[in-house]
Amino acid sequence: MKQVTKKRIEQTSLLAGFLFLALITFPALLQAQTNNWNAPASANQLKNPLAGNTTVLKEAKKLYTTNCGPCHGNNGKGDGIAAAALNPKPADHTSAAVQKESDGALYWKMTEGHTPMPSYKQALTDTQRWMLVNYIRSLAKRK
Ligand code: HEC
Repeated sequence: MKQVTKKRIEQTSLLAGFLFLALITFPALLQAQTNNWNAPASANQLKNPLAGNTTVLKEAKKLYTTNCGPCHGNNGKGDGIAAAALNPKPADHTSAAVQKESDGALYWKMTEGHTPMPSYKQALTDTQRWMLVNYIRSLAKRK
């Protein structure tokens, strides 16, 4: 192959490589900027084994105050004692944006966490996390 042609091919593939990288990173950058923390669609399929159960709320409130209150505030408004120092800010659990999420999505978010929010996969049992989903629901009604 002639030297010039070879160089052309090298340049073209380099350009293609950059374009490919740009295509991959651009959506990630957008996501970081708008800070949309979305649960995967599969999370919406998770069935809440405690759906509609209000007897767990007393216990859930204790769990919430201990584990979530420092950031989300004991009333879930996102105004816990540590909130001011955090970026992004803790979600307001009484807000329409959070309430419109499915039970499964809320459960998934507690399970996975999202810096600075920790994952509760180990710290809380499945049942405790579903109890907290019900508790978050109760916060909307109390507004
Ligand atoms: C260290 C502070 C911190 C603690 C503790 C914490 N969170 Fe969070 N939480 C956050 C932050 C910050 C966000 C927003 C993350 C984002 O938007 O990227 C968040 C977001 C969430 C969301 C997502 C809301 C939405 O947008 O749909 C849920 C659900 C949630 N937290 C539940 C909980 C529960 C339940 C607990 C207690 C078991 C808890 N969090 C403990 C900081 C915390």
